[in-house]
Amino acid sequence: MAAARAAVVCGLGTHLPSRVVTNADLAGELDTSDAWIRSRTGIGQRHLAEDGTATSDLAVEAGRRALKSASTDTVDAVIVATTTPDHTCPATAPAVAARTGLGTVPAFDVAAVCTGFLYGLAAGAGLIAAGTAHSVLVVGAETYSSILDPRDRSTRAIFGDGAGAVVLRAGDRDEPGALGPPVLGSDGTGRALIQVPSGGSRHPIRAENAERADPYFRMAGAQVFRHAVERMTEATREAVARAGWTPEEIDVLVAHQANVRIVNAVADQLRLPRSRFPVHLDRVGNTAAASIPLALADAVTAGALRPGHRTALAAFGGGLTWGATTLTWPDVTPV
Ligand code: UT7
Repeated sequence: MAAARAAVVCGLGTHLPSRVVTNADLAGELDTSDAWIRSRTGIGQRHLAEDGTATSDLAVEAGRRALKSASTDTVDAVIVATTTPDHTCPATAPAVAARTGLGTVPAFDVAAVCTGFLYGLAAGAGLIAAGTAHSVLVVGAETYSSILDPRDRSTRAIFGDGAGAVVLRAGDRDEPGALGPPVLGSDGTGRALIQVPSGGSRHPIRAENAERADPYFRMAGAQVFRHAVERMTEATREAVARAGWTPEEIDVLVAHQANVRIVNAVADQLRLPRSRFPVHLDRVGNTAAASIPLALADAVTAGALRPGHRTALAAFGGGLTWGATTLTWPDVTPV
């Protein structure tokens, strides 16, 4: 039997809405401060979409740029990872495929909250390994501002909007950019720790109960913090072992940008210097499914992530879900 084909990263694109909201801006309307947000999270500002901008609007921009970065205008499938789809029904990916000029290719969403991009990469790699697709556009895109409670300082301080995308193509396991074996996990017993309580089939919002409904994103921050450190550390160890590396051989670990204290704690648990963990959240906050591709592009632009670097990706999010994977960074210029 022929060996399964590897999925190789060959393009990277990003898009951030232009509106920047600083910690001082938030402190002007909520009981918070720049000092609290910076010291507890590392975040200094976030980009927020204008009213009327939907997740697909950001995803289309990032997708177009990823295609340009890959020097292609076709792919065989589109996957959109998001917590904030344009609509509960249908999925956002078909709209992104059509609006990006990709025609009638298969297109579907992945819902794994902040781990969504890594689940999307694994799904795209699976389509390639199975021979269903030769190339896949994987987008992580969020308009978190659409689900945040305007009065909740604990979530408004953290989350931002944005989108990032990669193009995967079929290739060889030993070439730069080839994704290593993914490690993915979930623990639904922790589903209440990160939740939008109302608006789904469990608690539909109807005229008669609208006043009691809670349509906003809720997070039990301190508990999530502990799980995030443990799971990202374990998943990284496993992904690195499956790639045949030791943790010390990781040159760059791009972790989900939830909180700089979480990123630092994962570095400490793995006994790796914090300098190997790029930080982007200071300028964009936690962009959930968009965070890893946005951080990758920022690290490449800053010169921290270069071709040949042994790279690990790790994420944790609602569900609960987590994941990690590896690749040798390819010669890809983000657009
Ligand atoms: O993205 C996927 C997964 N998400 C994460 O990984 C996020 C994980 N959690 C975190 O990053 C942190 O838990 C937070 C940043 C969300 C919160 O930091 P914390 O140090 O865990 O604070 P806490 O939730 O334990 O709250 C401590 C205090 C509380 O006040 P009291 O009850 O002690 O009086 C909060 O009300 O800090 C208060 N607080 C704030 N104060 C000023 C919470 N948010 C704010 C704020 N400004 N923005």
